[in-house]
Amino acid sequence: MPTETDADVRAGPAAAAPLRSVAELPGPRGWPLIGNLLQFDLPRLHQQFEAWAEHHGPTYRLRLGRREVLVISDAQTIAGALRDRPDTWRRMRPIEAVIRETGGHGVFSAEGDDWRRQRRLVMGAFDPGHLKRFYPSLLRVTERLMASWRQAARRGEPIDLQASLMRYTVDVTAGLAFGADVNTLEAPHPLQQHLDKLFPMLFRRINLPFAYWRYLRLPIDREHDRHLAHVHEAVRGFIRAARQRLQDDPSRRERPSDLLEAMLAAQDVDGSALTEEELAGNVLTVLLAGEDTTANTLSWAIWLLHEHPDDWQALVAEVDAALGDALLPPSFDAARGLASIEASVSEAMRLKPVAPLLFMEANRETALAGFRLPPGAVVFCLMRRAALDARLAEDVADFRPGRWHDGAQRATQKASMPFGAGPRLCPGRYLALLEMKMVLAMLARNFELQYVGTASGAPPQERMAFTMFPVGLQMRLTERRMH
Ligand code: HEM
Repeated sequence: MPTETDADVRAGPAAAAPLRSVAELPGPRGWPLIGNLLQFDLPRLHQQFEAWAEHHGPTYRLRLGRREVLVISDAQTIAGALRDRPDTWRRMRPIEAVIRETGGHGVFSAEGDDWRRQRRLVMGAFDPGHLKRFYPSLLRVTERLMASWRQAARRGEPIDLQASLMRYTVDVTAGLAFGADVNTLEAPHPLQQHLDKLFPMLFRRINLPFAYWRYLRLPIDREHDRHLAHVHEAVRGFIRAARQRLQDDPSRRERPSDLLEAMLAAQDVDGSALTEEELAGNVLTVLLAGEDTTANTLSWAIWLLHEHPDDWQALVAEVDAALGDALLPPSFDAARGLASIEASVSEAMRLKPVAPLLFMEANRETALAGFRLPPGAVVFCLMRRAALDARLAEDVADFRPGRWHDGAQRATQKASMPFGAGPRLCPGRYLALLEMKMVLAMLARNFELQYVGTASGAPPQERMAFTMFPVGLQMRLTERRMH
């Protein structure tokens, strides 16, 4: 039986009706005083919230202590609120506090004018023009990934897909944003060993009801401190090296060649000065934001393509035609043009968005989906549900990259927002797409997928640790025989 949607709530008679209170909405029953807090199953949080939406309807209520939370799933309502940042909406407050404590306070957690200032710098570093100049370095890192996969194929060894791709994304991000060749793909590096421990801890702390670690450090917190110290050491190293480059060649201040140089140059300009905290914070932010997101999305995409051999073969045919004799896309433009790869990753992100939840808080009194929200009101956005609405298309639950070339499927395409929306839309999306095209083109051109899946053969579970990733994905490759 059809249930009321957010769109009904907005467009129906409720549009003219007085605003309702969130407390009137249905939602899972909680405990007195603590509400639903202790019910949260963090590793499966997004699935739990989605299951509650199935049960209580797409717009429902949660309680965090005495606070009412509005949970929304309608794409238009979500996009409307995301567009209204940073003035009406901000990221939920504990996100800033927890990230600040790790020394990672930067453009992701900044608000208001601080955010505007940092956002301009970050956008400049990731624009397509900059990516084009970076292409030779991207090619070098992709060649290293190819060499490590070739070695595994020759030895008949399985590849830990997510771990291998995280090395790749760290190497790419550090090269592009900080001008540093960390090369975690070829040799162990402290950065790669410690960086991926940070996200699970951030996610845990943001969602805990009580910030106990500010008063008492458990073994898990001390371990986190150790990982953090190593990562900060690496961050300081990037900053030192970039300062040296600017000192050696002051003309770089006028034409910075990476994000770090641009931030250092901006430190000297009136009005846009970045504090030392913001400088280091943005280095860590970009490292974190660029690592898991792209690696997890690629892992899901490779698994889905392996599960759908016809789509994989179509992709291989496109890559063969585009690359000719080359083993990798020979130019930035060749890489950018691979349309069936773009469709496959868009489809993977629709079904497996690695950021399935966004948490927001109202800066001022406002209204959303027909509800009255006081300053400080919290809204959780379920980012996947709308793009899987069975009313959009019969095959909406299926992996079908072709829908991204099908005008009749516009509504399904629009409902998918894997990079967020509005002024805070992911600034790394062009880089992410380029990395995914490079890796998938390299894979298609050089290898046969022998097996992609878990050791048991069961479909990989979804797990949340700030981003959503597949648990235990392995890949076995053989080398392609070239004619
Ligand atoms: C497939 C890969 C990626 C996905 C799915 C993704 C997704 C997202 C999402 C959902 C947001 C929040 C947007 C919002 O609040 O509306 C975001 C923000 C952000 N992303 Fe990405 N991202 C990816 C890759 C990257 C990469 C490669 C970088 C940089 C190296 C990056 C840097 C950032 C930054 C700095 C922000 C904060 C923007 C702000 O608050 O203004 N992301 N990303």
